[in-house]
Amino acid sequence: MKRKFEINQKGHLVLGGMDAVDLAKEYGTPLYVMEEDTILSAMREYKASVDRFYDGNGLICYASKAFSCKEIYRIADREGLGTDVVSGGELYTALSVGFPAEKICFHGNNKSDGELEYALTSGVGRIVVDNAEELDRLSAIADRLGKKAPVMIRIKPGVDAHTHSFVMTGQIDSKFGFALETGEALAVIKKALKTPNISFGGIHCHIGSQIHELLPFTETAKIMMNFMAEVKKETGVDTKELNLGGGYGITYTDEDNRIEYPSYMEAVSKIIHESAENLGIKLPFILMEPGRSIVGEAGTTLYTVGAVKTIPNIRTYVSVDGGMFDNPRYILYGSKYDFLLANKADRPATGKVTVAGKCCESGDLLGENVELGDAECGDIMAVFSTGAYNYSMSSNYNRNVIPPVVFVKDGKARLVVKPQTYEDLVRNDI
Ligand code: LLP
Repeated sequence: MKRKFEINQKGHLVLGGMDAVDLAKEYGTPLYVMEEDTILSAMREYKASVDRFYDGNGLICYASKAFSCKEIYRIADREGLGTDVVSGGELYTALSVGFPAEKICFHGNNKSDGELEYALTSGVGRIVVDNAEELDRLSAIADRLGKKAPVMIRIKPGVDAHTHSFVMTGQIDSKFGFALETGEALAVIKKALKTPNISFGGIHCHIGSQIHELLPFTETAKIMMNFMAEVKKETGVDTKELNLGGGYGITYTDEDNRIEYPSYMEAVSKIIHESAENLGIKLPFILMEPGRSIVGEAGTTLYTVGAVKTIPNIRTYVSVDGGMFDNPRYILYGSKYDFLLANKADRPATGKVTVAGKCCESGDLLGENVELGDAECGDIMAVFSTGAYNYSMSSNYNRNVIPPVVFVKDGKARLVVKPQTYEDLVRNDI
């Protein structure tokens, strides 16, 4: 593995200036460790890029589905970011630490009436409308509350970037948003402009996640700008805001080539400026919603190795005290990670193993063909780049408790999410 990491004199992995083995001892395992400096520098780089390449005429909204807890909203707020929430629960968590409502973007393909009302009463800055029924429901709720709903319309730009190669598809087959090619996107904007209690502010798109190429993003920006020109021609209305979503890839293993965000921002900004000039439309205020690329590489999960089972001529299973309940990404997507024995960080890998979780399910693996040193019961195993979509996708499957989250910085650790207890597990049981 080419990944660079710090090792101390004991041969232990160091995270945020802390010995990972000491962290495991103090907080127990499994443990989510987040290096705060990595989060801060990602947030700052995003913000600086908008300042540098787009005259600061935009807002980075951290996509909190990647990792949501009180502390991350506090940090995003302190760093001057907005946030993207996708449920009443994420909205509640953000508001609970005083996150400015006007900098919150509320998403979802099937928001409930309760969630829409909650967003309106709390003064959320942008509600991203995903379907025609939602527009009507939102209008009725806003009418009842005597409010005007600030709305963006979610567009399917017809760019399929879920695979690493760039392919244009119909994209009609997505549960999110309105298609351009059928005319439904334009139709819903015309409708929004006439619907009472709705204030149309802009358009939104999000083409996928863990994308490593620039082309799908620049192509999307072009398509969205062309559509803004069409909206202007058809309705006479300037689309003030353009939200380009998130999706910038990170490094999990040597197979990944991370996009440097400034180069993305530079390329997209150039397209937006050129398109605005050629099409004769105003430069929009832009929003971006990175999630994974802000928190992903900051996270490392620590486990304790238990059983090591070698099946001759087949494989060796190294079992750890976590699994799909703290990281369901292997069982869901076959996602790959880098693994290391944190207490033997100075020793080379000696072979390939399968890392198994502790859930009663054969598919509960964290990785196969994983390069690892000689693992023994009691070793501390580190899995890198687990900061995004791990804690936020954790569950109590098999009534395992969700591990705590610790932030580390400058040789100090602080608990940010407490460990669940067995009592927590039965709290709502009657
Ligand atoms: N904006 C919208 C509207 C989104 O749907 C998403 C992610 C983002 C922004 C942030 O995308 P990011 O920058 O994090 O790629 N659970 C999956 C990822 C699902 C992403 C869903 N939407 C995983 O573990 O890979």
